[in-house]
Amino acid sequence: MERGLFVVTFAGTLALIAGVVHLVRRALRQRRSSRELREKIEKNQHIPKSLHPVVDTDICIGSLSCLKACPEGDILGLVDHAARLVHADHCIGHGKCAAECPVGAIKLVFGTAERGVDLPEVDEHFESSRPGVHVVGELGGMGLIKNAMTQGLQVAERLAEVVPKGGEVVIVGAGPAGLATALGLQSRGVAYHLLEQDTVGGSVAHYPRRKVAMTEPLDLPLVGKFGKKLISKEELLAGWQRLIEKAGLVVAQGAKVEAIHGEDGKFEVVTSLGNVAAAKVVLAIGRRGTPRKLGVPGEATEKVSYGLKDPEEFNGARVLVVGGGDSALEAAIQLANESSATVAISYRSPEFGRCREANRAKVAALVAGGRLTALMASQVRAIEAGHVDLDVAGKGVRLPNDHVIVAIGGELPTEFLQKAGIGMRRYRGQALGETTTSVDLGKPRKRRHAGTAEDRRLQRILWALRFLYLVVGVAVIGYLAWKGQDYYALAKAERLKHPLHPTMKAAGSWGHGVGIVATGFMLSNFFYAIRKRGRLLMDMGDIRGWLDFHVFVGTMSPLVIAFHAAFGVNNVLAAATSAALVVVMITGLVGRWIFGMVPAHGGKAEEYEDLAANFERLRAFAAPELARAGKGAGRLLDEATAPVRAGWLPVLFLRWPLEWARLRLHLLGLRFRMGDRARYLDLNRALVKLLRLRWQLRFYRSLKALLRGWRLFHATLAVFLVLALAAHVAVSLYLGYGLQ
Ligand SMILES: Cc1cc2nc3c(=O)[nH]c(=O)nc-3n(C[C@H](O)[C@H](O)[C@H](O)COP(=O)(O)OP(=O)(O)OC[C@H]3O[C@@H](n4cnc5c(N)ncnc54)[C@H](O)[C@@H]3O)c2cc1C
Ligand code: HEM
Ligand code: SF4
Repeated sequence: MERGLFVVTFAGTLALIAGVVHLVRRALRQRRSSRELREKIEKNQHIPKSLHPVVDTDICIGSLSCLKACPEGDILGLVDHAARLVHADHCIGHGKCAAECPVGAIKLVFGTAERGVDLPEVDEHFESSRPGVHVVGELGGMGLIKNAMTQGLQVAERLAEVVPKGGEVVIVGAGPAGLATALGLQSRGVAYHLLEQDTVGGSVAHYPRRKVAMTEPLDLPLVGKFGKKLISKEELLAGWQRLIEKAGLVVAQGAKVEAIHGEDGKFEVVTSLGNVAAAKVVLAIGRRGTPRKLGVPGEATEKVSYGLKDPEEFNGARVLVVGGGDSALEAAIQLANESSATVAISYRSPEFGRCREANRAKVAALVAGGRLTALMASQVRAIEAGHVDLDVAGKGVRLPNDHVIVAIGGELPTEFLQKAGIGMRRYRGQALGETTTSVDLGKPRKRRHAGTAEDRRLQRILWALRFLYLVVGVAVIGYLAWKGQDYYALAKAERLKHPLHPTMKAAGSWGHGVGIVATGFMLSNFFYAIRKRGRLLMDMGDIRGWLDFHVFVGTMSPLVIAFHAAFGVNNVLAAATSAALVVVMITGLVGRWIFGMVPAHGGKAEEYEDLAANFERLRAFAAPELARAGKGAGRLLDEATAPVRAGWLPVLFLRWPLEWARLRLHLLGLRFRMGDRARYLDLNRALVKLLRLRWQLRFYRSLKALLRGWRLFHATLAVFLVLALAAHVAVSLYLGYGLQ
């Protein structure tokens, strides 16, 4: 017994240390993120540019797997115990965070209430306001190569269902989105024309030489796996050439689409090489369209270009790059590193805010090393033969110069869209095709956006797996119960005489076997923690599937282990282990579901929002009445309207009747001080309601704060479990502890 107690205390202490470390690390992270967010708000850099994640703080369980998933680094942070977009200005909408959230608390949306984003209006099938004309890729707001290709495949899937037999599809643009659309249609046997005004590859063909693109491998029809995480421009273009040959795609290069006449099913697409008939049209023309211009005198000269292809062309020359986005920074970096040019970069803001952290760091290093001059808060005023005139932080500067590379983005091909009759829509925090806003609190919202076909397929797989877990779980427990039905029902004394005792008891061949299998099975639960943290298992399946498996294993473990122990414990170690197992399971259930059912501040809690709104209305109503009734009444108002804080639940329950009685007493006093009876009654009702609302708010917040502790118990006791189990196994193997 003593030895057992020692082991339990030792394991408990280690687990406690692990718990404290966990708490401290979270607290530090939270402090850092909150500080960073405050700084961002002060600098007005907290509003995302376009596609970005929105975290539903009610659903968020503080997993933080999204933080680790972002390829751009620390863009999300931990604020108010939930994930939050902290470096909004650096978010470029990879969407990895949303995919890696185990409980689907993250949604990707365009724009915000403060900064709307104008995009072609499309439905969930990418069909625009003009029936039969679809918009995919960067033009529709989905930047990045993988996103553009994924949408291309999705629209092809849809078109294969709706294109009438014998009908053809015209795809405009052979960038990633257009190529993927063609591939999808080809694999489904739908006829198409892929028309490209320039060359295959879209924006990628215009990347600077040897630029390394960050993307992800994709499974493509007809060709299989395509791409890799880091891939050079040249490799990508060569890959697309191979893809075109292997799949037998036909691209009409040099065919600029000028207009789309006709209607759904009977389009006439006007191109620079002649007209093409089509049943459906897919616009995959990107947003580069026409590069945005500076609009300054001298811009029309030959020394100005709109992108860098080959840095070596500029050897020995004086080059000014204009812009602050990734293209501008990457051009400046390449020029500085790969040519002997004298390079300067001009950007209108005091800091680079619209680019990746990696690029910003490289520019800073080049500036520090004197290889690049950064002219911040500057504007080009005029471009002349041997120089450029700039306004730098309010002062006129003449910069000697031979070439200007303007990289200030591309104008949305609005004219083309307008001509094609495609309606635009301003997104203010909605997902593509979604009609209600995700940040509009208090209104019913969908947890996840309408979802692509891929999403829906994944959901079906997850539900099928959950059903399988249920069947397997019931079958295993049923079998174990059936196997020991004659034994487990017996009292302890009777069991000893039963012929099944030697095999069914915990140390018997059957009981022992069940214990070993259950322990190994239970330990597989730690794979979830590994999956969450490292890149090792990152590509192996959806994180939601991993959490489901975790829940399945975690729920089954105590049940199966109860059979191993033959529903009894006979030593302190086994008792502590079983108790820990049960607490781990209960806290797991709290974290996974119950926590999310309690409305949180700033979350979707309709009830909470209503209460808070009422609270404010009542406060506004009560203030003048109390002011008229004298000093004591003012204090009553201050108390009733002080900020609501969470507290310790048992104390709250004790305080509630006291507060209620105190208010009643004060109101009684007021009754004699206020002359107007009707007014007094109104005030009375308002204050009583205020108190009730305050209590409800405090209750929600306190409950949420209490439930937040689930993680600490869950993870800490999981560590304790492993240590206690190891001791339990060692003790039973080597010392025969409990072998009765
Ligand atoms: C400098 C830079 C760096 C980038 N780095 C990355 C990166 O590292 N990782 C990443 O994932 N993404 C990166 N991107 C973004 C990525 O390149 C784009 O999101 C992607 O190429 C969009 O694909 P798309 O097919 O929608 O459009 P695009 O690639 O722009 O292709 C559109 C095509 O349509 C053609 N077209 C346009 N109008 C017409 C017309 N009227 N008739 C016929 N054809 C027409 C164009 O010529 C073009 O070929 C970067 C972009 C830039 C500019
Ligand atoms: C044998 C039992 C279990 C063990 C050993 C165990 C272990 C763990 C550990 C170590 C973590 C921390 C993971 C991390 O943040 O890296 C964790 C998280 C979690 N567990 Fe369990 N668990 C068990 C059972 C359960 C059960 C039964 C449920 C639910 C019903 C559950 C739900 C969760 C949830 C929701 C998380 C948080 C996920 C996240 O933050 O991403 N667990 N568990
Ligand atoms: S850059 Fe992408 S992964 Fe990172 S936070 Fe933004 S949307 Fe999420």
